[in-house]
Amino acid sequence: MKAFILDRYSKKQALRLGDMPEPVPGPDDVLVEVEAAGLNQLDSKIRDGAFKPILPYKPPLVLGHDLAGTVVKVGANVRRFKPGDAVYARPRDGQIGTFAERIAVKEADLALKPANLSMAEAASIPLVGLTAWQVLIERAQIKPGQKVLIHAGSGGVGTFAIQLAKHLGATVATTASAANAAMVKELGADVVIDYRSQKFEEELSGYDVVLNSLDAATLEKSLKVLKTGGKLISISGPPDPAFARAQGLNVVLRFVVRLLSADIRRKAKRAGVGYSFLFMRADGRQLERITKLIEDGTIRPVMDRTFPFEKLNDAFAYIDTGRAKGKVVVTQR
Ligand SMILES: NC(=O)c1ccc[n+]([C@@H]2O[C@H](COP(=O)([O-])OP(=O)(O)OC[C@H]3O[C@@H](n4cnc5c(N)ncnc54)[C@H](OP(=O)(O)O)[C@@H]3O)[C@@H](O)[C@H]2O)c1
Repeated sequence: MKAFILDRYSKKQALRLGDMPEPVPGPDDVLVEVEAAGLNQLDSKIRDGAFKPILPYKPPLVLGHDLAGTVVKVGANVRRFKPGDAVYARPRDGQIGTFAERIAVKEADLALKPANLSMAEAASIPLVGLTAWQVLIERAQIKPGQKVLIHAGSGGVGTFAIQLAKHLGATVATTASAANAAMVKELGADVVIDYRSQKFEEELSGYDVVLNSLDAATLEKSLKVLKTGGKLISISGPPDPAFARAQGLNVVLRFVVRLLSADIRRKAKRAGVGYSFLFMRADGRQLERITKLIEDGTIRPVMDRTFPFEKLNDAFAYIDTGRAKGKVVVTQR
């Protein structure tokens, strides 16, 4: 089958369109014909070699963490899906590869596609939707009336997280450029800080939760925004010891991770705030709940650009600018 192949780790390396063996679904797998695949910064980071210690994939490999498509075949143990079903997923680590014609996905990672979305729209959702869910619902346990700062509200994670936080009853502040202010307001943001002309750490205070997806300087400034007992949750690093344990990293890497986050953990402690890093995981059941929120109109996809499958490298060049407004997707038909 046709697939985009990463032959070796290298910064901004173009992927090669070539042939890969057909995936063979195991008893718990669902074989899916990929109709659309979303791009994520995680794909770029794996391509660049930045994730080697955490996700030690061996090239040649097929990247791609988001898909929407049609079920072709199911393994012997699969109960929830049948051929012909329209589905979407963020396949689990170790079983990625959505930049291909077909992929075998664990049944547990899959959900029925929201009926009101196109395949391209559906492929934009899983990774960012699950990330927002796991940060705001699982980790932060947002309650109505709480105040949440979501950094980079115009990005893939931000556009979803603003809508989910509003649904949970939070007051939402976000950082965005002036050009994207109207878009993030329309998604539900109550307070928009223009990150180019304002200092969010001087404008905001008494927040319960900050979702950080930006750099170390923003992470540290975010401490000033939180009230005592607040939660600083970062998805862009640095990783913390709990993550290293959960990921099963060896003692050397655990030590490195402890060092990487020592400074922010110390500063957070001094500020009376909890710091944690979150690395999202595949979860078909959570995705089912996201499907419901999309079908009832609570959350909508925010798409920037759609490229034909053959133009995947152009789509990568676009997300690598860091300027995408919402999501970028490639479609196969
Ligand atoms: N740990 C996890 O599980 C996990 C999951 C998902 C994502 N992530 C990470 O989270 C980060 C964000 O991912 P994403 O997919 O949302 O990225 P993205 O869609 O590529 O983000 C692009 C957006 O960020 C905005 N932006 C850039 N710099 C900004 C700043 N200083 N302040 C406010 N907004 C800014 C840009 O707006 P302008 O054009 O106006 O600048 C643009 O709209 C990435 O590092 C990604 O790897 C981690």
